[in-house]
Amino acid sequence: MKNKTAIITGASKGIGLACAQLFFAEGANVVLLDLVPPSVDVHDKRWLFFACDVSKSEAVKAAVEKAHNTFGSIDYLVNNAGIQRYGTATTTTEEAWDEVMNVNLKSQFLCARHCIPFMQQSGNGVIINISSVQAFVSQHNVLAYTTAKTALLGLTRSIAVDYAPQVRCVAVCPGTIDTPMLREAINLSPDPAAVMQECVDMHPAARIGTPQEVAALVIFLCSDKAGFITGQAIRIDGGLGITIAGSKRD
Ligand SMILES: NC(=O)c1ccc[n+]([C@@H]2O[C@H](COP(=O)([O-])OP(=O)(O)OC[C@H]3O[C@@H](n4cnc5c(N)ncnc54)[C@H](O)[C@@H]3O)[C@@H](O)[C@H]2O)c1
Repeated sequence: MKNKTAIITGASKGIGLACAQLFFAEGANVVLLDLVPPSVDVHDKRWLFFACDVSKSEAVKAAVEKAHNTFGSIDYLVNNAGIQRYGTATTTTEEAWDEVMNVNLKSQFLCARHCIPFMQQSGNGVIINISSVQAFVSQHNVLAYTTAKTALLGLTRSIAVDYAPQVRCVAVCPGTIDTPMLREAINLSPDPAAVMQECVDMHPAARIGTPQEVAALVIFLCSDKAGFITGQAIRIDGGLGITIAGSKRD
């Protein structure tokens, strides 16, 4: 990926940070967009960090233009930034609904909107939308999150159809992954260890996933080896989506 440029949203922690580190290791220039600075050292001319709320159009436009001016192309966009808010149809406030839709759906549209014209110039761009298994199956109390993650599959298909063959677009749908988001969610419980064990037990793989495993899939999907894959939703979930709820190991 030498001389290629990857933009990653929500790149300071978790899955986004693992993607940023792997793109960097593969030789790419890496542009990190996040509200907070990354916890790793990014003092190299192939790193560029922007403090940026990716749900704001002007901020995204400025960051994408600066990235293009700095590195000369935009080849990969990983729409990874996401937030979790809890609630049902009757308990989710309109503010929480709007917040989740803005970060988990509108930001992906905005980043695509501003990156695609640059990708068309090179004729070989890839957009990865980080969705979730919750685009296919759901759990209690996550109405807005599940709705946004499901809508991302429509966004993925539309971009794949509208901009082929210059731009490929693929959704990645992780199961439970060990990130700060997961740890924060688990720590809301009075018994975090029991909740973590429940997470492990939900996966036939008998463990949760790592950010590095998701990053490896993202890198593969961005590579020319995946050149015939577009518009799809690829699950990386340790088998979570193939079991009947409540089924137990013997
Ligand atoms: N961790 C999981 O189990 C899991 C499972 C399925 C899908 N996902 C999805 O993977 C993606 C990454 O999740 P994670 O677990 O690494 O999360 P995380 O909370 O650990 O990291 C998310 C990063 O996004 C940044 N961010 C949040 N809002 C932003 C905004 N408006 N603008 C810019 N940056 C913003 C945060 O500052 C943070 O650095 C999310 O879209 C999440 O929904 C996570």
